Amino acid sequence: MKTRLLMCPPTNYEVAYDINPWMTPNVGIATPEARRQWDRLVEVLQCAADVEIQCVEPRPGAPDMVFTANAALISDKLAIVSSFRHPQRRAEQRHFRSWLARGGFATAFLQQTFFEGAGDALFDRRRPLLYVGYGWRTERNAAGQIGETLGVRALPLLLVDERFYHLDTCLCPLASGHVLAFMDAFSPHSQKLLRRSIEPEYLIEVSIEDALTFACNAIEVDDALVLAGATRRLRDLLNAVGYRVFATELSDFHRAGGSAKCLTLKLEDGPALSEAAA
Ligand code: ARG
Repeated sequence: MKTRLLMCPPTNYEVAYDINPWMTPNVGIATPEARRQWDRLVEVLQCAADVEIQCVEPRPGAPDMVFTANAALISDKLAIVSSFRHPQRRAEQRHFRSWLARGGFATAFLQQTFFEGAGDALFDRRRPLLYVGYGWRTERNAAGQIGETLGVRALPLLLVDERFYHLDTCLCPLASGHVLAFMDAFSPHSQKLLRRSIEPEYLIEVSIEDALTFACNAIEVDDALVLAGATRRLRDLLNAVGYRVFATELSDFHRAGGSAKCLTLKLEDGPALSEAAA
């Protein structure tokens, strides 16, 4: 089946403000390769798997709109639209909401809680579980609200390293049941929760080197993983569990703290069925 991905062309993309440590040294610095890198990402996705790219129109004054992972959390035909923590990104909310509503989704917001969509909420692909990152952007309370709304167990995970401020920068649950994780990005208690939820042979702990090249920010489509870069060790591990790995340069987006997966939103998503229900 075709995987539909929502993306936003980088027409208005720039590092215009500083809301994460990746942006700090880059505010106002040019990103001349952004368009080429974004086009190349689209090409790689189309070559690697059966994907259909849908685009939301870029709006002036919303330079981070390229990071469509932050538009919403999709579960079947419901979109829980983000409520951004930083005022700099709040204008995006209504643009994303109106695109999703026109795309046939029922849209909802969390009550008075910061929540940054599929940047901070990731469904496990095998276990009936939703991982929710909180601390820098999303608030802890989002986990309970989403869990209740979707009827899924939501596991709140405290993020403690500001370079990994969104969950999708340090965790990547795969359809094989494996989960990539950069463990030091999580509090000791959250590390325990992860180890309790994921069997050791399924937990792929990535190195700081891989984490800093955004290896956890991978787009999974069919048996392909598209990411900005991975060490030989990680590639071998992923190949061994059945994935084809495609790396594509995204350095101009790293300047704003985002990589491959941040630039996409899966339009078909939702909780894995529990074994009993399946
Ligand atoms: N500059 C953006 C921000 O700080 C980057 C967002 C990256 N998105 C993601 N899903 N990790 O919000």
